[in-house]
Amino acid sequence: MKTKAGKMFVEIIDSRIFLILVLMGVSEAQLQVGFYSKTCPSAESTIRTVVRRAVAADAAAAARLLRLQFHDCFVEGCDASILIKHEPDERQAHGNQGVGGYEIIDEAKAELERACPGVVSCADIVALAARDAIVLTKGPPYEVPTGRRDGKVSSLELAANLPDVDDSINVLKTKFAGKGLSDKDLVLLSAEYRFTGAHTIGTTACFFITSRLYNFSGGGGGGGADPALSPELLRNLKAKCPFGGDVNVRVPLDWGSESLFDDHILRNVKTGFGVIASDAVLIGDIGTRKIINSYLTRVPTRRANFPADFAGAMVKMGSIGVKTGVEGEIRRVCSATN
Ligand code: HEM
Repeated sequence: MKTKAGKMFVEIIDSRIFLILVLMGVSEAQLQVGFYSKTCPSAESTIRTVVRRAVAADAAAAARLLRLQFHDCFVEGCDASILIKHEPDERQAHGNQGVGGYEIIDEAKAELERACPGVVSCADIVALAARDAIVLTKGPPYEVPTGRRDGKVSSLELAANLPDVDDSINVLKTKFAGKGLSDKDLVLLSAEYRFTGAHTIGTTACFFITSRLYNFSGGGGGGGADPALSPELLRNLKAKCPFGGDVNVRVPLDWGSESLFDDHILRNVKTGFGVIASDAVLIGDIGTRKIINSYLTRVPTRRANFPADFAGAMVKMGSIGVKTGVEGEIRRVCSATN
C-alpha cells in the first residue's frame, strides 16, 4: 500500500517523466540525419538501390523524382500527400500535370515494408529519392534529415496555387516566401548553375510553353511570342511545338544539356534560352539576376558556392510544413492512407 508521501513521490516522478517525454517529443519533432539508423538501418541504401535501378531503366526518371519532391512539399508540406490516390486528388491539379515517379516511390516503400514494416514514411522516401536522383545526374551529394510522417489529406483544391510557368517574378517570389523560401532559394531550386538547379535536367511538355510561343501576354506583351526568347530558341521550339500540334511532345528545359546537372541552364536563362517562362523571368528582375550572376562570375574568389547552396536549398525545401512526432501517420502503402 502506498503512503501519502509515497503517492506524492510517484506523482512527482510521473510528472518528471511526462516532462521528459514532452521535451523528447519536442526534440523528436525535428528532422534528423540518420533517423532510421536504429529502426531501419537499411532504409537509405534500399531507396538508393531502387532509384538506381529506375534511372538505369529510364534516365528520365531522375528528373521526375526531383520534381516530385517540389510538388509534394509545396502542397500541405513534405508529407507525400501527392502520392495518395482518390477522386479528385492532388495529382489531378493543373500544376501537377506531367509529375511522375510515383511508382518508384511505391516500389521502394514495398521493399521497405518487407524489411521494416510500418517504419519508413513515404514522405522521407520522396526526399531521399530526390537526393539520390540528383547524385545520379552528377549533382552534389548531401545528407537528408529524416523523420517526416505522412499526411492523411490529398486535395485538388489545396494544389490549386502551385507556382506556375506563367506567374510573374513577383508572384513566384511571393509563393516561395509563403513556404519560407527566399529569392535565392527560388533561383537555386528552379533555374540554376553548375551541378545543380532542378531545371538543369528534365523536359517540359509543349503544353507549358505554347502560350509563350504563340500568345504571350506576360510582361506587357499582347499575343505573339515572348520577346525574351532568343530568335534561335523560338525557331527551334516552334518546330518542336507547332501551333495546334500535339501538346504532349516533350522538349528539354535546359536546351542542349537536359540530362546532366551543369552550368548550362543559367547561361541559357541569361541569353534568352530559358525554355519555360518562369525560368526566363529570373533574369529580368534585378534581385534574382544578381543571384544568378553571383554563381556565374569568372572570378573564382567571388563566385558563390553553388553545390553547397543548392544542397542547402533542397534541405530547406524538404523541411516545408513537415509532420513529425505524433502528427500524421506512417502509411502502409504510399498511394492510400491507412
Ligand atoms: C519556380 C517555380 C517552378 C515552376 C513554375 C516550374 C514549372 C515546371 C514545368 C512547367 C515543368 C515541365 C513539366 C512537364 O511538362 O512535365 C517543370 C519540370 C521540372 N521541374 Fe519545375 N518548376 C518550378 C520549380 C521547380 C523546383 C523548385 C524543382 C525542384 C527542386 C523543379 C523541378 C523540375 C524538374 C526536375 C523538371 C523536369 C521533369 C521531367 O523531366 O520529368 N521545378 N517545371
